[in-house]
Amino acid sequence: MGSAITGWGEALPDHVVTNDDFAARLDTSDEWIVARTGIRQRRMGGTTSELAIDAGRAALKVADLDGADIDLLVLATTTPDQTIPATSSAVHDALGCRGGAFDLNAACAGFVYALVTADSLLHAGHHRALVIGSETLSKVTDQDDRSTAVLFGDGAAAIVLEAGARDELVLAYDLGVDGAATPLLYADHGGYIHMEGREVFRRAVRAELESIENVLSRAGVRPDDIALFVPHQANVRIIEAVNQRVGLSMERTALVLERTGNTSAASIPLALAEAADAGRVAEGDLVLLSGFGAGMTWASAVIRWGRRGLPR
Ligand code: COA
Repeated sequence: MGSAITGWGEALPDHVVTNDDFAARLDTSDEWIVARTGIRQRRMGGTTSELAIDAGRAALKVADLDGADIDLLVLATTTPDQTIPATSSAVHDALGCRGGAFDLNAACAGFVYALVTADSLLHAGHHRALVIGSETLSKVTDQDDRSTAVLFGDGAAAIVLEAGARDELVLAYDLGVDGAATPLLYADHGGYIHMEGREVFRRAVRAELESIENVLSRAGVRPDDIALFVPHQANVRIIEAVNQRVGLSMERTALVLERTGNTSAASIPLALAEAADAGRVAEGDLVLLSGFGAGMTWASAVIRWGRRGLPR
């Protein structure tokens, strides 16, 4: 028995912060930010639970389900509203879900970790899972530090996973972590993000490359077989470097970072939801997801899009 993605949705705060907004008060410029990152604007505001609830509602609507139809909630976030309890508790309550709920922190690889975890739990007997990536990175970013402030934004996106499809959703996955690299990217409790940008960039390209090669080979598919690549949205230069080496075209790559900045665990589902809304994935298509982040974590998956065999 397989599973399928039957709903998707997003939530972005209304407040738009442009590169010129930063240039007005920091030693930076729209030209520098666009050339070095590809980011033009990002959204800021709300709490991680508020954004997760809105994204979850939107995904349930597309799936034509109620919260009570969900028996598993996994919230990928690196910016929970409180230290205790997990932010997923408030989301579970607001949406009226059943079953268990938990937060998962694997930084910017968090959504793919959560997707793989939820899909495994569907195989273990759950029926319908809501998987959400939600972040309020603006709260852990020093808005006066030009080297990090311009990179990060807030947002959330969610998918509904349902068991009972004819096909397997996840053809192959690859999860990894290099804990020795933790000092390159971290935020202490109550502190701001510290990042060694250049080294993170170098390692991100290497980790994503290896992870993508692993997952393509495990799935027994070639880059040409991938209809849509949904990478973590940190920096368009990282995406271009990876695509060039793997042999994936930018035309078949989902990009939202120009408008959202880096939203960590929310970035892959945001790009996936927008691509699905735009009709860029069709029944049977193979979709490659790949992310990396603090930890340093990485995660990739090859999934098959479509709901063949599902009763509704
Ligand atoms: N505006 C103008 N100049 C800036 C700047 C900004 N917003 N931020 C940094 N600079 C300066 C630096 O201070 C440095 O100046 P110096 O040479 O006088 O010291 C110069 O630009 C080059 O910095 P460098 O870090 O080498 O630039 P870069 O090309 O590596 O780009 C990042 C910086 C952060 C955009 C890039 O390293 C990056 O994207 N790294 C990965 C980030 C990432 O993905 N993090 C999340 C992982 S999930």
